[in-house]
Amino acid sequence: MAGSADYNLGPSLYPRGWFIVAEASQLDAGPLALRYWGQDLALYRGESGRPVLLDAYCAHMGTHLTNSTSAVIVKNGEQIEGDSIRCPYHGWRYGPDGQVNDIPYHDGPCPKSAAIRSYPVVENMGCIMAWYDPDGREPDYEPPFLPEWDDPQFVHWELDHLGELNIHPQEILDNMADVRHLGPTHGAPSQYFENEFRDHIYIQRQGGPIQLYNCDLQSTTWYTGPGLLLSKQSFGETLIYELIANTPIEDGVVRCFHACLYRGASNPASAEDKATAKMAQAGALEAFGADFNIWANKRPALTIMQLKTDGPFKRGREWYSQFYARPEDMSAIHSAVNGVVLTRGMDAPSDHARELDQGLFA
Ligand code: FES
Ligand SMILES: [Fe+2]
Repeated sequence: MAGSADYNLGPSLYPRGWFIVAEASQLDAGPLALRYWGQDLALYRGESGRPVLLDAYCAHMGTHLTNSTSAVIVKNGEQIEGDSIRCPYHGWRYGPDGQVNDIPYHDGPCPKSAAIRSYPVVENMGCIMAWYDPDGREPDYEPPFLPEWDDPQFVHWELDHLGELNIHPQEILDNMADVRHLGPTHGAPSQYFENEFRDHIYIQRQGGPIQLYNCDLQSTTWYTGPGLLLSKQSFGETLIYELIANTPIEDGVVRCFHACLYRGASNPASAEDKATAKMAQAGALEAFGADFNIWANKRPALTIMQLKTDGPFKRGREWYSQFYARPEDMSAIHSAVNGVVLTRGMDAPSDHARELDQGLFA
């Protein structure tokens, strides 16, 4: 298993950014025990509806806040009070800021030193997204949002939970530059292909014939930070937004999520549209599965033997390194990588293809 240092990424072990930690509907069944960024974590929904993500272990005696479901206060549904959560062992209560705000058998102020780490969290497009920074700094960009999520013609996604993959996320990000795998791996070779780097956003525009649907496909795909890919894809009458997300669990191990937001034929989307949306997501997952299977079985590519007619892997890796770098080094990386890159042997996107970009990367 190759880790961040093997790819010359650092000094952080894990990338800074917004990541999916759960599907929002998973919280309907109660608090969750999660593990990301080498940390055990507790995720719950407060009574106001607010999702809260804390480090998992109580400062008092180290109990996991959400994994000890045998405790009576958990069984009785008494663990959540307002937006706070009580430890199941002795009932210390933690607020969404990670501070202890009540100890049932203690008079006087709660010890400030009992605070545990709280992560910035948003509920966004059916997902719980959390901001990770190794030193607890606040977010420096917004997570992506598709306005179509609020358009009744679009059928909401339910996430495909793809589980753990023993691969460093660097290799998943390499896919953005990888024009030459689209024919052999997906049966959809590109005619036009370009990448663009804009600070924390990494864009790919590509299009060409796709065997599976016997038509042309055009896509604009972009990462917002290191963990969240969205792809607007148009083929025939179909328009979808695909989501592919990776969240580091340990150094060199990620959890992956996948979904598609589908534009129905009727407005609002009909029952038939909802059925077609499920099929569209399954079809997209099958295509993505071809990558997933390759990643699951390859050896790490610590360096890439990049030909002149390959896509810009090296520039993509330099872009990705910003999320492991010291904050004061990020702007130098932006200056080095920002701009449009064409791959030798590929057409540039037409003006028509660029129209797919409208309203994206806000
Ligand atoms: S271990 Fe959490 S309250 Fe005692
Ligand atoms: Fe792929």
